[in-house]
Amino acid sequence: MCGIVGYVGREQAAPILLEGLSRLEYRGYDSAGVAVCSAGEGRLEVAKAKGRLKILSDMLHGGADISGTTGIGHTRWATHGAPSDVNSHPQVSRSGRIAVVHNGIIENYAELKAFLKEQGIPFASETDTEVVAQLIEYFLETDKVGLLEAVGRVLRRIEGAYALGIVSADVPGQIIAVRKDSPLILGQGQDFHMLASDVTAIIQHTRDVIYLEDGELAVLTTEGIQCYSQLMVPIEKKVSHVDWEIDAAEKGGYEHFMFKEIMEQPDALRRAISPRIAEGQVVLEDFHLDEAYLKSLEKIYIVACGSSYHVGMVEKYIFERLLRIPVEVALASEFRYMEPIVTQRTLVVVISQSGETLDSMAALREAKRLGAKVLSVVNVVGSSIARESDQVLYTWAGPEIAVATTKGYSTQLAVLDLLALYLGRLLGTVSQETYDQGVAALEALPEQMERVLERREDIQYYASQYFNHNSVFFIGRNLDYAMGLEGSLKLKEISYIHSEAYASGELKHGTISLIEEGTLVIALGTCGRLFDKAMSNVAEVRSRGADVLALTTESRQEDMAHAASGVITIPDAAEIALPSLGVVPLQLFAYYVALMRGCDIDKPRNLAKSVTVE
Ligand code: F6R
Repeated sequence: MCGIVGYVGREQAAPILLEGLSRLEYRGYDSAGVAVCSAGEGRLEVAKAKGRLKILSDMLHGGADISGTTGIGHTRWATHGAPSDVNSHPQVSRSGRIAVVHNGIIENYAELKAFLKEQGIPFASETDTEVVAQLIEYFLETDKVGLLEAVGRVLRRIEGAYALGIVSADVPGQIIAVRKDSPLILGQGQDFHMLASDVTAIIQHTRDVIYLEDGELAVLTTEGIQCYSQLMVPIEKKVSHVDWEIDAAEKGGYEHFMFKEIMEQPDALRRAISPRIAEGQVVLEDFHLDEAYLKSLEKIYIVACGSSYHVGMVEKYIFERLLRIPVEVALASEFRYMEPIVTQRTLVVVISQSGETLDSMAALREAKRLGAKVLSVVNVVGSSIARESDQVLYTWAGPEIAVATTKGYSTQLAVLDLLALYLGRLLGTVSQETYDQGVAALEALPEQMERVLERREDIQYYASQYFNHNSVFFIGRNLDYAMGLEGSLKLKEISYIHSEAYASGELKHGTISLIEEGTLVIALGTCGRLFDKAMSNVAEVRSRGADVLALTTESRQEDMAHAASGVITIPDAAEIALPSLGVVPLQLFAYYVALMRGCDIDKPRNLAKSVTVE
């Protein structure tokens, strides 16, 4: 989705903005632009270009062609109006003296645009953002107020979700930042201040950040940051320190971020798991949901999108087995429209790597409105979902740059596995044996995953056999089915191969009609107690001509080899750890297939890293 960066200080702004935008490229975009103010001349220069950031950067000779020490930059992911130079941000007012970058959607823009047109104000673009720039200028001219007040008046009229960065040629040396339902952070440096939609854009310059809350506004100058509440009352904000290293957001010799992040999973799991296990017990520090409340729970709702939703599908099986509490998994985009049955005895678990997914955020608010407590599992510290939850468990995966999540997914699984064991013990629903096995399995997980990664050449070989297929089915039961959902999504999103995941038993209720000579079926059979069933399903599709690549545990390899055309194995482990281990070959398979098909792995078409629009 769109990215924002802004800088005010003593250095030339344009090169800093372009560099910041390059760190936001991973979020997905179709055009880019910058606006820079030069104090002495009261001049505002804007440069924008459709396509990759490199086009803009080359056009400006790396920023050297545009001078000034205050500026804002943007990467746009089109919503209102096609990708084009004119629709790119920054959007400017009629006089060209106000420039605005915006993430989100102004829902009532059509009505505001009609009003401004009636006042004789012409529009250059099809964007909702231009309305903001024009409206600021309208209030400046008609109401004769200052810039801050004009922005305040605009905020009282616009509806929707927005993070805004605003500069004016008449007040050079100042950026106004505003946020509502879209992420925006402020960076505090020595002699400079910054804003960004994502910490990766500013981490090279400062790690001291301020998180703006919904409706808050800030004025950034070289000397400082002044924040204001929604009512425009000056407020003091806490400065937080981000402990991510810049290297974590760089490729470090790998060809793709996705591959780097797949390989980082054992370490990410160590960070997520080790501090939470002590002497064979799950210890959740800072976990303050009340014991009496947890014991009174009648239902758990897991709400998320995409891969995070798939984590929820795995955890439904694990939670229900260990806790004997009904668990419902809902797509966050559906949750608030389905009149969910949520009471004060429901715990809503929101899973989100970015912590900024708009649908998940909206579901969180709906859950709270209905009286539930919300526990979130989030990677990005200080993100909106983390801040609005009653309880947050961080995954500590480090920055995830590739659009397709990998370490984000596996650390979410690990954290929820730990939570399931913790609650199972608290509620007395899990046997000592299962608890001990589960804890031991999670402790062993990073090392076992290293073994899976060491055998990546086997997966590469199978990818070379199958990368030309146009349609792939993933089948499995129970945990294997839930894992298949993620394997299938990974494959389709980065390799553009059509793929479906089915619960094996459901195949014969319709979908089996699609199985024909040579169809690739990836059969997942890691779950020991269901292994015989997995074998029957392999036989079922093979007898209809399918080519079957199976995934199972080492101890079952031989049996499976009789039934399938190829077998990939993972180490034997307690059930709770199987999806975490099993997903790795599926991630690698998707990666190698996409590589062989020449796809843009880190930035798949039409996709964005963090989906901050509905
Ligand atoms: C797929 C992927 C997406 C995200 C989804 C939710 O590889 O990354 O499906 O899982 O957009 O994002 P978060 O977890 O940030 O809420």
